[in-house]
Amino acid sequence: MNETETLKKQILKKIEETLSLDELENIRISTLGKKGSLTEMMKTLGQLPQEERKLIGQSLNSIKIEISEAIETKKKFLEEKELETKVAAESIDISLPIRPLQQGRIHPVSQVMEEMLTIFAQMGFELAEGPDIEDDFHCFEALNFPKDHPARQMQATFFMKNGDNLILRTHTSPVQIRIMEEKQPPIKIVAPGRVYRCDYDMTHTPMFHQIEGLVIDKETNMGHLKGVLMNFMRVFFEVDNVPIRFRPSFFPFTEPSAEVDIGCSRENGEFKIESGKGWMEILGCGMVHPNVIKNCGLDPNEYQGFAFGFGLDRFAMLKYGIPDLRSFFDADTRWIKHYGFLPLDIPSITSGLSLNGGQKR
Ligand code: DAH
Repeated sequence: MNETETLKKQILKKIEETLSLDELENIRISTLGKKGSLTEMMKTLGQLPQEERKLIGQSLNSIKIEISEAIETKKKFLEEKELETKVAAESIDISLPIRPLQQGRIHPVSQVMEEMLTIFAQMGFELAEGPDIEDDFHCFEALNFPKDHPARQMQATFFMKNGDNLILRTHTSPVQIRIMEEKQPPIKIVAPGRVYRCDYDMTHTPMFHQIEGLVIDKETNMGHLKGVLMNFMRVFFEVDNVPIRFRPSFFPFTEPSAEVDIGCSRENGEFKIESGKGWMEILGCGMVHPNVIKNCGLDPNEYQGFAFGFGLDRFAMLKYGIPDLRSFFDADTRWIKHYGFLPLDIPSITSGLSLNGGQKR
């Protein structure tokens, strides 16, 4: 009897002292397991006289129960503790102030793209995308550039070597076609992306960025186009009154077509938006040509709309006073340190499009 009491005390002490689940499991096996000390003692019961067997049997049983319970309780306790430690280790203190990021910078192209998308999203435009490698149909044919038409020479095209009629897209206008092929009107999208032309000087690089806009509906007209563009310019350049002029122009995919100029001055190398000094052409636009609508399988008698497209890099140069387009793609860390943007200053209509940007940096 004494022997069992001592054993019980020893085991309970071990259970109490252990701090690890593995050790606890070892204790369980060494006492209650097949060859455990208690199990072994139970096995000897058979050799005892009946009276004694009953007494010792009962006491062993109650010890067994007591120990099992102690193990279970301790197990729960240790498991909870383990979980707590794990949760504490994985937790992030979101109340900590953000550490200022000193190294990385957002490229002006990414910044300006974000700014533009923020403005267009606010006006209800959806984001659309198309491939950089295009076919002749989407890049020219469906956009109403007839074969051998001189308008095709307006853009110096890169052709793919394999002769599959594949080219690097010269503009983002093919996204108009892809969207109209895919979706039923009403359509209201903007499509930013890379475009390619064989050109290289201070204001031209073989790869640059454009953003395309397309609205197709039943009654969309040029007044809407003008409203969208004026609102865009005002918010993008962060100037209340942007002087704007629409000049008649030609694009195969729009009729009528227009080019848009903004009133500006360039004095001492500084670009400023103001009226009365001069004009600068910044984008092309117009009412989508009925042939284009037809080429996409829509009925031009039912649907009409407008499109516009412009060079994103050029807008970045104007807004942030960057003189040479080629420097955009030189991957020079000194340049990006100077012209780049802090990663956490995300453009927003309410808190400002370019808090730390450009001249305001
Ligand atoms: N795709 C033209 C270009 O790259 C720009 C353009 C002009 C786009 C008029 C349009 C548009 O959507 O309506 O020169």
